[in-house]
Amino acid sequence: MAFPITRLRRLRQNEPIRSLVRETRLSTESLVYPLFVCPGKGVRNEVRSMPGVFNLSVDQAVQEARHAHSLGVPAVILFGLPENKDEIATGAWAETGIVQQAARALKREIPDLIVMGDVCLCEYMSHGHCGVVRTAPQSLGAAVATPPRATADYEIVNDATLELLARTSVSLARAGVDIIAPSDMMDGRVGAIRQALDRAELSHIPILSYAAKFASGFYGPFREAADSTPQFGDRRSYQMDGANLREAMREIELDIEEGADMIMVKPAMPYLDVIAAARRRFDVPLAAYQVSGEYAMIEAAARNNWIDRERVLMESLLSIRRAGASIIITYHALDAARLLA
Ligand code: PBG
Repeated sequence: MAFPITRLRRLRQNEPIRSLVRETRLSTESLVYPLFVCPGKGVRNEVRSMPGVFNLSVDQAVQEARHAHSLGVPAVILFGLPENKDEIATGAWAETGIVQQAARALKREIPDLIVMGDVCLCEYMSHGHCGVVRTAPQSLGAAVATPPRATADYEIVNDATLELLARTSVSLARAGVDIIAPSDMMDGRVGAIRQALDRAELSHIPILSYAAKFASGFYGPFREAADSTPQFGDRRSYQMDGANLREAMREIELDIEEGADMIMVKPAMPYLDVIAAARRRFDVPLAAYQVSGEYAMIEAAARNNWIDRERVLMESLLSIRRAGASIIITYHALDAARLLA
């Protein structure tokens, strides 16, 4: 039945009716707030390319998390800026690591807050890659003076990395992290982490895998925030090619087979089709990460008065929800919680 019988504007005529027929709703209960934890006391350094986002010492991170919790945000995800970096990412798995310290403090001060731990090595490696790097023999001598440039000059070693990721996961869980979230994109890491957790009598700890994580220019501001830019090369040999939807489904399928309890698509807005396809195909809880570049674009345009900041940030979150993600990791979590209240 077409016009004039059908008039879709009937159900748009005022806010109560629009609200009655609304198909998608955002809720604070599904938001996760990222925190960047650094050494020191009383430190609160704003990230240049992410206004409103800070590197926080443990005491400040606790304060920020308390604020988030009081607004109804149920979870934080932790990233660390270690004191020192090396070739085996010691800072990621050391008992005294910065994220371990933060997790202990957060669980002591705010026991009901869900603490997620991002598991990756890039922030802790001197070269900034997410895995162990092996330099090709012919360039070994040269590598000391000049870092390798061509892909042929170095290799990100998959299986040796798994051991470090597993060690990191066990260490974080022992420090109180409630959910382990591996973001490195090595093959087999979910299985390796599950096995290590189970052996350490941590079989109750869930894994949220960054299952479909794309090599993306939208991570730019994060790398400044976490000081994790690769010193040579890029991440395209482990993170996914942005052109591939079918491969994303294979990544997710494998992670679920290896024991992922929840899955994630990242970034969010440029990959809404991947979120939608994952929602239709898999029955595990689905998360999406609205990444640093997505945040920075909204903030930059708002600062120029080119867009209405609050309206655009809520619309962007709604689009992620509508695509099918039930959990949203976003730097706008506190603003969203305030606007939803
Ligand atoms: C670590 C990691 C990254 C992000 C989350 N975990 C950076 C990267 O892969 O380069 C990006 C988050 C963001 O941009 O907000 N590997």
